[in-house]
Amino acid sequence: MPKELIRLSDCTVSFDGEVVLDKINLYINDKEFLTLLGPSGCGKTTTLRIIGGFQAPTAGDVLFDGVRINDVPPHKRAVNTVFQKYALFPHLNVFENIAFGLRIPKADPETGKREKLSEEEIQRRVMEMLEVVNLKGFERRRVNQLSGGQQQRVAIARALVNQPKVLLLDEPLGALDLKLRKDMQNELKRIQQAMGITFIYVTHDQEEALAMSDTVVVMDQGKIQQIGTPEDIYNEPKNAFVADFIGESNILDGIMRADGVVEIFNRKFQCLDKGFLPDEPVDVVIRPEDVDIVPEDQGQLKGTVTSVTFKGVHYDTIVDFYGFKWLIQTTDFCPVDSHIGIKIDPDGIHVMKKSQYSGLFGDYSSYSEEYDEIGDATLEPEEEEEESHEE
Ligand SMILES: Nc1ncnc2c1ncn2[C@@H]1O[C@H](COP(=O)(O)OP(=O)(O)O)[C@@H](O)[C@H]1O
Ligand SMILES: [Mg+2]
Repeated sequence: MPKELIRLSDCTVSFDGEVVLDKINLYINDKEFLTLLGPSGCGKTTTLRIIGGFQAPTAGDVLFDGVRINDVPPHKRAVNTVFQKYALFPHLNVFENIAFGLRIPKADPETGKREKLSEEEIQRRVMEMLEVVNLKGFERRRVNQLSGGQQQRVAIARALVNQPKVLLLDEPLGALDLKLRKDMQNELKRIQQAMGITFIYVTHDQEEALAMSDTVVVMDQGKIQQIGTPEDIYNEPKNAFVADFIGESNILDGIMRADGVVEIFNRKFQCLDKGFLPDEPVDVVIRPEDVDIVPEDQGQLKGTVTSVTFKGVHYDTIVDFYGFKWLIQTTDFCPVDSHIGIKIDPDGIHVMKKSQYSGLFGDYSSYSEEYDEIGDATLEPEEEEEESHEE
């Protein structure tokens, strides 16, 4: 049985009367890797700051192990934070950066007496951390002689050496380049599992969230939109915002005609969804990889290809169906202007309730315009060159 460690209960935060977190309800289990995911400004950092004790909720409660901790200051919480701008001490070497927190005398919770760790204990714990973050042999290095990824690992070791029950990480890989980010994602996951502690991770990068997390919390405009495993969030998005933010989605207007039957563009499709009202208007998500291209006369829908982009594994093919443009990812090459048919299996269709996000996302008209713009941009230098020949 997973054990609940932290709970946010109806947590609201307002700044000057403006609500930036709106009644957040969330629990986090012991040893869980939980990610807060959402666009910039949605309230991720504020949520993390409430858990860390840097920000008091305007209303609502924060519980740790079932005990209300609203008024407990950060240094008395069993929580440590790695910020995006991890300030290492430039004048100290790697060992001393990690040992720093251990050298501060701590009050014994029972006697209240301030006690110092022995030098042997500090030595043992720092060396153990260096091993965990793969930096053995680097202990005497100056931190400004390290790469970005190595510095980030020192910052993580420095937070973990205090043996927190929970580590809060606010976009910790944001400053690293893509290749290093991927390596560090695996590294962080490995460290979290090896140490058996709870990670609460903040990112705006959906791929990062899906790759690392046990649980993903999708946020927008100060509200939780969905909580679930990466598979749940991808396969069963709750609304058009989640469907659009996680991966690529065609989102269409539909009408639920019966359990397992949804109508799109006046045609009936078999699906697995049920429990809607008769003839309820719905949003329908179809992922680009779930569409099969077939000869036009065999298709459930017929459309015209308007753009094709080779992506290595597949082609991003934009198809116009009755004025609505879909993205289809397929290994079949269909040239621009060809007429095609499509088929969709029942499990490739996902039906959602209408929401405030309906109609805002899921049409790929602008997607092909983006390609056109990229095409235009690459033409410009040639035009300039021609001009200079004329001179
Ligand atoms: N101290 C503050 N004073 C006023 N507004 C703030 C403060 N901190 C955050 N905000 C606002 O709260 C919203 C959420 O911010 P934040 O939690 O940092 O978002 P995220 O981390 O998801 O980008 C933003 O609109 C931000 O401008
Ligand atoms: Mg933030």
